[in-house]
Amino acid sequence: MGRLLNNEKDISLLKESELLYGSFQEMVEMQLLYNSAIKQVSTKLEILNEEFNVKHARNPIHHVEGRLKTPQSIVKKLQRKNMDISMKTAKEINDIAGIRVVCAYLDDVYNISEMLLSQTDIKLIKYQDYIKEPNFNGYRSLHLDIEVPVFLSDHIERVIVEIQIRTVAQDFWASLEHDIRYKSDKYVPKDICDEMLQSANEIATIDLKMQETFKKIQNI
Ligand code: GTP
Ligand code: MG
Repeated sequence: MGRLLNNEKDISLLKESELLYGSFQEMVEMQLLYNSAIKQVSTKLEILNEEFNVKHARNPIHHVEGRLKTPQSIVKKLQRKNMDISMKTAKEINDIAGIRVVCAYLDDVYNISEMLLSQTDIKLIKYQDYIKEPNFNGYRSLHLDIEVPVFLSDHIERVIVEIQIRTVAQDFWASLEHDIRYKSDKYVPKDICDEMLQSANEIATIDLKMQETFKKIQNI
């Protein structure tokens, strides 16, 4: 349902959206496109999860979250990267459409990624393995920027979607780390950073151990 623009934040959002999109119609069309890409990839993931369940009697995917970047954060990102604010430059941002896939085990993360990337209509744009090479702060996740075709009434649009695939434990860590950064407005005290890095390493050890235990119970 629509609502009145009644505070400064809303008005600034409207201005930023106007800068980004030539018209309201253009914004709606762009959102339709990226939302369709999210639906497309979510359905692919759902099918893979269900097929895996039929074959192996368990779900490798715990849950999937999809989100569309707001016009405000698209503009912020363009500004941060010193890029012009336009539809053309916005299309160079890979995470306007974002999907997070949370898996049970580490092997599931890589299996899901392989299954998805082997699909012929998917083109890999960027592969970043923050599990093999974690961020300085301990962040772990497998990032895939992919391009998917969205079939419209008279043409096909290729749309980029950023997918983050991680385990439940890695997701648990990333949520807290995100909240800490958000709360402390980017400055995080050193002892908190140290504690988080230690937790990330412990989580990595537990993820490996859980994977091993799971393999063992499969052989019982
Ligand atoms: P841009 O997408 O252009 O910003 O650069 P990039 O593709 O190199 O970014 P990257 O793939 O490193 O990060 C993309 C997203 O991953 C972020 O928007 C976050 O959602 C997530 N991410 C990356 N690093 C961290 C981290 O240290 N902590 C948490 N909580 N999330 C992270
Ligand atoms: Mg990215």
